[in-house]
Amino acid sequence: GSVIALVPAAGRGERLGADAPKAFVPVGGTPMLGLTVRGLMAAGVVDEIIVMVPAQLVEATAALLPPAAPARIVAGGAERTDSVRAGLAYAGAAAHVLVHDAARALTPPDLIARVVAELRAGRPAVVPALPVVDTVKSVDTAGRVTGTPDRSALRAVQTPQGFAADVLRRAYEHPESATDDAGLVERLGIDVHTIPGDPLAFKITTPLDLRLAEAVLDGKQV
Ligand code: C5P
Repeated sequence: GSVIALVPAAGRGERLGADAPKAFVPVGGTPMLGLTVRGLMAAGVVDEIIVMVPAQLVEATAALLPPAAPARIVAGGAERTDSVRAGLAYAGAAAHVLVHDAARALTPPDLIARVVAELRAGRPAVVPALPVVDTVKSVDTAGRVTGTPDRSALRAVQTPQGFAADVLRRAYEHPESATDDAGLVERLGIDVHTIPGDPLAFKITTPLDLRLAEAVLDGKQV
């Protein structure tokens, strides 16, 4: 069955503090979205890419993608979940769907291929995950610590997150919000499987992340 990648790129990127929406900010001279689409193509396992951008940028985006990209550009929504839902409407033919943040512009193609391999092996939901390096605490609204979960049981999750298409569609039938797609799938009671993530799949979120990404690209041929 075919694999369709949904790329949410409709965020404003306020934490990055740039003039342009985050996915359009250049890294090493190429807009993040262009690098992300190039990475998906290089993985060799994605049949079609659907990119969700701010409505006013739909027309202008094509020029930022690699010329031969098998991509369709559509308008995203107010929240990330709205953007993914908008893209999912165009994923009719897919057997498997990847959801991959435009902001994870340096994701190694090999990680994308590993997620798809797990889907092809029959897993309904697959997410890349890394151990957390910091101790994580829960706090109340006043900032008082309410708990310290056991760090060894925690993982920081990345994208691409991969799903059997019918599973992701069912997850998005409910009007709930979540910070990742697997979160909605978990609520259906479906097993979500983790595979080892990759530090290079980090999400470019802050000005420091952008400098880190520039430095990584500087040190390698692109
Ligand atoms: O805000 P955050 O860093 O979690 O965004 C993750 C990804 O989701 C980014 O690539 C961003 O462009 C995208 N996004 C979106 N639509 C929104 C908000 C975020 O496509 N309304």
